[in-house]
Amino acid sequence: MTSSDRVIIFDTTLRDGEQALPQSLSMRQKLQIAQALEELGVDVIEAGFPVSSQGDFESVQEIARTLRHAIPCGLARAVLKDVDVCGEALKPAEHFRIHTFIATSTIHVKDKLRKSFDDVLNMGVAAIKQARRYTDDVEFSCEDAGRTPLDQLLRMIEAAIDAGATTINIPDTVGYTVPTEFGGIITQVMNRVPNVDKAVISVHCHNDLGMATANSITAVQMGARQIECCMNGLGERAGNCSLEEVAMAIQLRSKVLGGLKTGIIAPHIARTSAMVAKICHEPVPSHKAIVGSNAFSHSSGIHQDGVLKNRETYEILTPESVGFTSNTMLMTARSGRHMIHDCLRKLGYADDEYDLNDIYARFLKLADRKGQVFEYDLEALLFFTKLDEEDDMYHLDQMNIMSGSNGSIPTATVRLRVGRRTRTESCIGNGPVDAMYNCITHLTGVKITLKSYEITANGSGMDALGQVDVTVEHEGRIFHGMGLSTDVIEASGLALLRAINNIERAKRIHAKKRTKRTTKELVAEAKAEAEAKAKAKAAD
Ligand code: KIV
Ligand code: ZN
Repeated sequence: MTSSDRVIIFDTTLRDGEQALPQSLSMRQKLQIAQALEELGVDVIEAGFPVSSQGDFESVQEIARTLRHAIPCGLARAVLKDVDVCGEALKPAEHFRIHTFIATSTIHVKDKLRKSFDDVLNMGVAAIKQARRYTDDVEFSCEDAGRTPLDQLLRMIEAAIDAGATTINIPDTVGYTVPTEFGGIITQVMNRVPNVDKAVISVHCHNDLGMATANSITAVQMGARQIECCMNGLGERAGNCSLEEVAMAIQLRSKVLGGLKTGIIAPHIARTSAMVAKICHEPVPSHKAIVGSNAFSHSSGIHQDGVLKNRETYEILTPESVGFTSNTMLMTARSGRHMIHDCLRKLGYADDEYDLNDIYARFLKLADRKGQVFEYDLEALLFFTKLDEEDDMYHLDQMNIMSGSNGSIPTATVRLRVGRRTRTESCIGNGPVDAMYNCITHLTGVKITLKSYEITANGSGMDALGQVDVTVEHEGRIFHGMGLSTDVIEASGLALLRAINNIERAKRIHAKKRTKRTTKELVAEAKAEAEAKAKAKAAD
């Protein structure tokens, strides 16, 4: 199965990436990211780990229902119940993939699983067979393959393919290997597994030693044809292989790599990266390859001189090729709907991705307050304001803040809209933000502890929007909220309210779960359905 030059891009931002975030993403946020990844040209989207929580189950289900081109995938341990729940979550999609895994390295088998290697092999085989009752697209991962004794790894892979796995994933789970070593493992798999031609060989490299991209690229040179990766290199610990790095390495160095290609649409990279960074509250480091803010800037005089004479002296890629535009379009309250539409089109947004009337109304409000609106402001409006607001419980209706120097007491008055009613409260505090936060916590009655508060400028210059990110703890869980405004105090209030709205949303999901069928019932139902399907197939 490896004769093709096409490398499958399997994105796990919503699974491996999300599991490493301090706070979990809401279903809407996951859906927003999944849709952006699909537009980026990703082939497979690992949407979550359905058995891990009701929230994950529902997000995977919703993503499976929504994707049009990319294949939705869910993760399941090599445990029959996990596989059943995963199959159930993915059912809304016409075609889907179940990804089941079990650790194969000696340290994991003995010390973590406390089993024999043969037990592990049998569990893997049983899980694959179970997954095949739901779909003919089954991926199997040998967790910690990078540290698994080669003979055992090859035995496991052969058995997994015999059991029906169509993709075999070789993870370097702890990011321990170096490229020649990892490439050697792939070569051995390609040469010594007798039925290897019946599966696609995939790699999943972590970045603990900074080798994830190099290991993944070496693996495809040795015959692997799927790379698992995350946008901006998110993921457990030091992260996963970075999607944008492998995609651009394969595009730019295709000749050296024997003509390999991916389906990634490079000009969508910058905006997908920005969206993931903002929604996940994980800023992209400025020096990050491909998507860092310094990735295309030149500081030294010698470099600047060279670039002015010929860009290619120090630039192997243009910023435009990955979708960075120079922020040249200035928009004001006098700009018409047409200009906003045109700007969004140039930024790569299709008409059906947003509601022009809605975004235009928001743009006018912002332009009134800010004067000039830039492209990045428009994108910020698109990312943050539309989706999550719809089912928010609390809305900031009005606020008045007083603070000053020489012993004046910071005071806030806040009016919240809750459904059709409003609630108003005045409080003092250590500062204007504290006063406002006291009002909001009294008005909502939600018990929280503020864990972090960060303020940054969204955009550049004096008229950049203020962006406030907060994390709060509620009943042992961490929730994130982000607020954006020309007024940083308002941005602070919006961020806290967003976190509280996320708490309320999580409570609603939990309540729904209690009134809905139990996982056991879901599994029983899924099993019965799978059996009926298998019977019908056998009868055909
Ligand atoms: O790193 C890893 O081994 C994983 C597996 C579940 C594929 O994330
Ligand atoms: Zn991983």
